[in-house]
Amino acid sequence: MSITKICCIGAGYVGGPTMAVIAKQCPHIRVTVVDLNEARIAAWNDSDVTKIPVYEPGLSEVVAEARGRNLFFSTDVDGAIDEAEMVFISVNTPTKTYGAGKGQAADLKWIELCARQIARVSTTDKIVVEKSTLPVRTASTLKDILSHTGSGASFQILSNPEFLAEGTAVDDLLRPDRVLIGGDQSEEGRAAIGSLVEVYANWVPRERILTTNVWSSELSKLTANAFLAQRVSSINSLSELCEHTEADVSEVSRAIGTDSRIGPKFLKASVGFGGSCFQKDILNLVYIARTYGLQEVADYWEQVIIMNDHQKRRFAGRIIRTLYNTVNGKKIAFLGWAFKKDTNDTRESAAIYVADHLLLEQAELSVYDPKVPVQQVYTDLDYLATRSSDENKSLLKVVNDPYEACRDAHAVAVLTEWDEFRDYDWQRIYDNMLKPAHVFDGRNILDRAKLEAIGFKVKAIGS
Ligand code: NAD
Ligand code: UGA
Repeated sequence: MSITKICCIGAGYVGGPTMAVIAKQCPHIRVTVVDLNEARIAAWNDSDVTKIPVYEPGLSEVVAEARGRNLFFSTDVDGAIDEAEMVFISVNTPTKTYGAGKGQAADLKWIELCARQIARVSTTDKIVVEKSTLPVRTASTLKDILSHTGSGASFQILSNPEFLAEGTAVDDLLRPDRVLIGGDQSEEGRAAIGSLVEVYANWVPRERILTTNVWSSELSKLTANAFLAQRVSSINSLSELCEHTEADVSEVSRAIGTDSRIGPKFLKASVGFGGSCFQKDILNLVYIARTYGLQEVADYWEQVIIMNDHQKRRFAGRIIRTLYNTVNGKKIAFLGWAFKKDTNDTRESAAIYVADHLLLEQAELSVYDPKVPVQQVYTDLDYLATRSSDENKSLLKVVNDPYEACRDAHAVAVLTEWDEFRDYDWQRIYDNMLKPAHVFDGRNILDRAKLEAIGFKVKAIGS
């Protein structure tokens, strides 16, 4: 079947950009993105396209081109589902915060609600595509729910996990390393796979579109994130050893990354990985392995998270130790709050946890991030529930000028690798700080020699 109408449930960081690119590349397909969140949909429809709710380089241009032509954002979930031949489910699948599997398993509540809604409103056959990241074998749950519709409509379920990274989403979507599509190996299943292959083939070379059975596809997504996060934890574990041995972790990364079997990517030591997915997906993998009684497999992957938590704590600890074991009443400037550069997303950002450790020691924090709204910083801290909202507001200030953030500070900590931090007038920052002026570079992005020549005392990760 040639697809002419797509519906995507979930207008978040994946649904929005992914569908915008499909609409841009396939003008003959009508793409409707729906969400229960009215404010989010209103923001996607804002006449000022720079106000769309997801900040990604190049995204507003893509939305401007396709929106109103063949790309639509709506809260009419039922209508869009019924009209479509293909329905993507791109809703959130966070870690469960209650009941069995609390703290590890994926909460599939929203996925199941989508399946029930599709079953309830569909009057015609559809291909249902899992775009959300899901535990292996979720498709069988969806199949079960969708086979009880009463309307006689039938469904094929495909797994088509998304591999985009935030900050580079548009480029990743336009030029993906691969697109993965898993489906039933029956005749109907293969036809459904073919329909989705045809959509992507409008711009992705065929050899980059991989097809598998549905379980391999579901598991490959968790595996890809686990492997990427494992590389970060591996290099971060060695950053601590570097700090004790005068080896320099950036030099070690370069030395091992030039081995073509290892490769240079994802070897940047940092204050710890963040983002909505690495931790959640590994915990999910750990949970699944334990469910099958595979303790060693579960323990192996859990260590990636343990190391990441250690790295965040360790960074805060190093700041405290260096500032003579007390940060009480001392002003520390945070440059960056987002979990990585070029995004306004703060989910699981290392900055949140480092801030929390320092606030426990009664430090006074001053935060600057080029894209994160003020209220988001407080929402992130309040969510941890370590202290009251009023205390967070009195101990931490969010400012919109980096020089203001650093004025009269004892130390500056770099939490996000925004490019602009490199280009600041560091002499001016130094002149307005208390002395000795410390810099803690949690991303290894600053020119250490230059800062030391100015007079800063610099501590970077892994050196
Ligand atoms: P998100 O929270 O930004 O967006 C999810 C949206 O789904 C929300 O706007 C929510 O209101 C909506 N929603 C939930 N239930 C709904 C329902 N029943 N009907 C209509 N709308 C509903 O999440 P996200 O970051 O876009 O992630 C979505 C999925 O994609 C997750 O499974 C995630 O693991 C996966 N993923 C995320 C990324 C990423 O970079 N963020 C990358 C690859 C995969
Ligand atoms: C990651 C994967 O890269 C995507 O392929 C995947 O689709 C996505 O998760 C997902 O499933 O959500 P994302 O989290 O957006 O993408 O960003 P990454 O570039 O992977 O960075 C994740 C975290 O690791 C960031 O905090 C980043 O700063 C950190 N990181 C990354 C390092 O500390 N060092 C590195 O060398 C690389």
